[in-house]
Amino acid sequence: MKKEAVLKGLFIAIEGGEGAGKTTQAQLLYHSLASRFPTILTREPGGTPLGERIRDLLLDPSLHPLNSRAEFFLFLAARAQHVEEVIKPALEKGIIVISDRFSLSSLAYQGFGRGLDISLLEMMDDFARQSLSPHLTLYIDIPPEEGRRRLSTLTPFEKESPEFHKRVREGYLKIASLYPDKVRVIDGRGSVEEVRERIEEVVEEFIRRWCDETSHNGCS
Ligand code: TYD
Repeated sequence: MKKEAVLKGLFIAIEGGEGAGKTTQAQLLYHSLASRFPTILTREPGGTPLGERIRDLLLDPSLHPLNSRAEFFLFLAARAQHVEEVIKPALEKGIIVISDRFSLSSLAYQGFGRGLDISLLEMMDDFARQSLSPHLTLYIDIPPEEGRRRLSTLTPFEKESPEFHKRVREGYLKIASLYPDKVRVIDGRGSVEEVRERIEEVVEEFIRRWCDETSHNGCS
């Protein structure tokens, strides 16, 4: 049997509803960590050539509305490739991986938003990601109305009803309450700098613990 490689890196996922400022914060976190540790920033759907093609399909307005199950399978296909091709190899090398969205997006959007069966989604998602999960997920929380006001052009997901986005937010908050150690809620209101500081506080505490366990080069 093939011996499993040890995953020495740290896997951080950033989540949020539409207009939460997630992508900006992911980039800021990337620059801050990359100055101290080998770090990569990646995204879902995307992160690989296959994933980026799937992303184009998912965001193509002419293909919407997609069947919810078909939509879920596309996100899973992108994730399976992403884990195998990018995330796992990086973690094996001791690299910090920051992913702009990961599995919680599927639970929040396809599960709570579209109403697909959550326990079934969790099982299939676990299969797609080879049971690999982020050490830490940061969920940037803002009221959907506020997020929407921040957006100029809208993707098919962003154009979903206010009720859909309300369910997505409630889904994220529910999951966060179930796994408080792994999923941390960050208040996304206020300036970019204010939100960045809130994230930094949580991540630094997490990095300290990781350093105690791994004594990684950049830790001292
Ligand atoms: P994107 O333009 O990247 O939105 P954002 O900047 O908010 O991340 O589009 C990705 C969309 O895909 C986003 O609206 C959320 C949705 N999504 C799901 O519905 N399920 C998933 O598993 C993932 C990864 C994303």
